Amino acid sequence: MTCPYARFLEPEPTNESNSTSSSNLTVNGTTGSSDALTEIISMTGFANRPAKPELKRLPSSDELVTYNNYLRLHTILDSQILMSAKHDINKTAVHDEHLFIIIHQTFELWFKQIIYEIDSIREIFDKEKVDESQMFVIVNRLNRCVQIWRLLVDQIGILETMTPLDFMEFRSYLSPASGFQSLQFRLIENKFGLTDKSRIQHNATHYMNTFPNEHDRNELQNSVETPTLLQLIERWLERTPGLDDTTFNFWERFKTSVGEYLNFLKTNAEDEPNPTAKDASLEDVKKTADTFRSLFDEKFHNQLVQRGERRISQRAIQGALMISLYREQPRFQQPYQIISLLMDIDALITKWRYGHLILVQRQIGNKQGTGGSAGYSYLRSTCR
Ligand code: HEM
Repeated sequence: MTCPYARFLEPEPTNESNSTSSSNLTVNGTTGSSDALTEIISMTGFANRPAKPELKRLPSSDELVTYNNYLRLHTILDSQILMSAKHDINKTAVHDEHLFIIIHQTFELWFKQIIYEIDSIREIFDKEKVDESQMFVIVNRLNRCVQIWRLLVDQIGILETMTPLDFMEFRSYLSPASGFQSLQFRLIENKFGLTDKSRIQHNATHYMNTFPNEHDRNELQNSVETPTLLQLIERWLERTPGLDDTTFNFWERFKTSVGEYLNFLKTNAEDEPNPTAKDASLEDVKKTADTFRSLFDEKFHNQLVQRGERRISQRAIQGALMISLYREQPRFQQPYQIISLLMDIDALITKWRYGHLILVQRQIGNKQGTGGSAGYSYLRSTCR
């Protein structure tokens, strides 16, 4: 069936004079109000500027921007202080500690970039209506986060070149420092939407207690009090146009299609000649039917949300389903990309957790972590 709402994801902007609105442009090169070329030039921002913007330099030669001072390389490159060199009376450093520090520092730099991107995306979404012209920016930045997470997953492989015996040579010097104390990692979790309810606690201690510093605690508090990316996405999905239309009635149509699909699965299962395979197939159909029933029954769905077993409202799921089912329609293409990229990020964070878990098992086996957790078994429980 064709979706009559696919053209309108968010209601059209009311400001007719908005010259940058892409809806003013047509394929054949003319616009509703002005000449397309002028329109394109004005969109580049060069219309009222000289063709070659002047190269701006700071006035004093003391402040001349150089590669080193622009990137603050002295600070960054002087920040690898090897504890093994400090502790050894002969001041002999353990070679692999250098890699260990560099890896953690690069992780933290990329965490910083992810937070920067996510904050900007949250800002765009934190409106009653998301400006459609911003869809490209959202897709682009989410895609950037995906590429960074891919890199972070791969980066673990570099640390795997360190043998457990090499690590043993300097591990004791690090204690009680631990990944538990990564403020940025907790900020990322919170800003994406991990709730206290879904967190795995270790030694019945709240993660906030790991951060005695007031500034850190304020940042963490702020990250849980401001709308998370998940909450903002939920609100945006709930506004998917077409959901309220009783003529089109997407939800009822969807329920009917699911009913037909379940009947088809049941008939196939019942036709199965092998009795064991037949029982297994019928059991499978029952599970699928139960999942759909729990989604269609709003009260039951809300209970699952309360228990933290589902994360977004029934209406938001309806929006996501509508976008996914009509993804080939022009106005649903970018929203579909957004949903897809969010799923990629979710999968990549889980992949990172698994990669880290395997690294930990390889390096320290079942030993306790330097942060005081049970180590491997604690981390395994965070991979759910
Ligand atoms: C030899 C390599 C590594 C070992 C043996 C190791 C070990 C551990 C252990 C045992 C924990 C649990 C907390 C504790 O008791 O300390 C932990 C947590 C953590 N580690 Fe690592 N780690 C390693 C590398 C890394 C790297 C490269 C990162 C990158 C940032 C990292 C980030 C984290 C984070 C964010 C946590 C908290 C995870 C959570 O609570 O969900 N670790 N690590």
